[in-house]
Amino acid sequence: MTATLIRFMRLGNDTKSGMKRLYVVALLALSCVKAPEQTSTAGGTTAAPHGGPVRIGFSMDTLKEERWQRDKRLVEQRAKEVGAALDVQVANGDDAVQTKQADNMLTKGVDVLIVAPHNGEIAASIVEAAHRKGVPVIAYDRLIRDSDVDLYLSHQVEKIGEMQADYAQKHVPKGNYVLIGGSPTDYNALLLRKGQMNVLKPAIDRHDIKVISEQFAREWKAEEALRITEDALTKTGNKIQAIVASNDGTAGGAISALEAAGLAGKVLVTGQDAQKDAVQRIVKGTQTMTIYKPIQPLAFGAVDAAIKLAKKQPVETKDKINNGKKDVPAILIEAIAVDKSNVDSTVIKDGYFTHAEIYGQ
Ligand code: GAL
Repeated sequence: MTATLIRFMRLGNDTKSGMKRLYVVALLALSCVKAPEQTSTAGGTTAAPHGGPVRIGFSMDTLKEERWQRDKRLVEQRAKEVGAALDVQVANGDDAVQTKQADNMLTKGVDVLIVAPHNGEIAASIVEAAHRKGVPVIAYDRLIRDSDVDLYLSHQVEKIGEMQADYAQKHVPKGNYVLIGGSPTDYNALLLRKGQMNVLKPAIDRHDIKVISEQFAREWKAEEALRITEDALTKTGNKIQAIVASNDGTAGGAISALEAAGLAGKVLVTGQDAQKDAVQRIVKGTQTMTIYKPIQPLAFGAVDAAIKLAKKQPVETKDKINNGKKDVPAILIEAIAVDKSNVDSTVIKDGYFTHAEIYGQ
C-alpha cells in the first residue's frame, strides 16, 4: 500500500498563550496511519500530548480461550515495560457491556483504545464514540466493520483458513468433509471460511470432496461443534473423513463427538491457536493440526502502535483490509501450521509451552 499521508506538526504554543502557531505540513509518501485528530507533538518516550504517560484502554471480548489470557498478560507486560498506563476491561461476550466499558474508559480519559470486538459490526459505535473525543482506535485481532477504525493488527486470517484447508486436502484429498466455522459475529470466522473455500472449492467442484455440513459455531462454542459433528456423523452413518474446525476450541468439541463414536484419531481434524490441550491432543493423535499464532508480536505491536497513535506519530503498515467503509491500514502477522512433526521445533522451541507441559514428564 502506498497511501499518502498529510501530516500536520504543530511547533510552538497555541494561541491561548498568546504565542504564534506554526504548522508544518509534511507530505509523507509512506504507508502510515495517523491519529484521527492532530493536536500537538509530545516529548519523552511514552509521554502523551497532555504530558503524562500514555493512557491505553484495552477492551477485550473474552478470556474464554487460553490465547486471550496470553494476549492480556503480554499487553500488560509491554505497557509496563514502556511506561504506559493501561486499563483492561473484559466484556465476557456481551456487546452492551463492551460498549459501556469502552464509554467508561473514554469518559475517564484514555489517549488511545485497543479493541478486540465481540461483534465486529456493533463495535463500530465504539470507534465513533472514541473519534468524537479525538481518540484513535486499533482493532485487535478481529476487524471492526463499517467504521473509520485507525489500524488493524492481527494475523493473516484468510491465509490461516487456506492453511487449514490446504493441510486437510493434502492429507485427505477425497472424502466427506465437515466445516465448522467460528462465531458469525466475529469477522475472523468469515475470513477463515473464505480462506478454506478458496482452497476447497476446486475439489468440491470435481466432487472429490463432499461438504456434509458447513455451519458456524455460535460464540466459538465447543458444544456447538460437538452438536454439528454428531449431526454429520448421524447423517452419513459415521462416514466423515475430515473436519475443518476453525479453532482449537471447536476442534475439541468435534473430537469429543468423534471419541463417542470411536473415531478419534481416525478423522483428520484441524484447529487454530495452539492452545495447550490442542497441542496435547496433537501429540496424542486425536487432533491432526493447529495453527500457531505467536501472540507476543501482536500484543507488543499493539501497545507500541497505540503509543505512536496517541502521540500523533505515524505507524508504518504494509497491509490493508477493506472493512466495508474503507481500506483499513493493517499489520498482519504470519502464522505457522503445526502437527506432530513440528511441535518441538515450533511451540516448544519458542517457549510457548515446555516439553513437559505437552508430553508430560
Ligand atoms: C478468533 C481468534 C481466534 C480464536 C477465536 C475464539 O477471533 O482469532 O484466535 O481465539 O476468536 O476466541
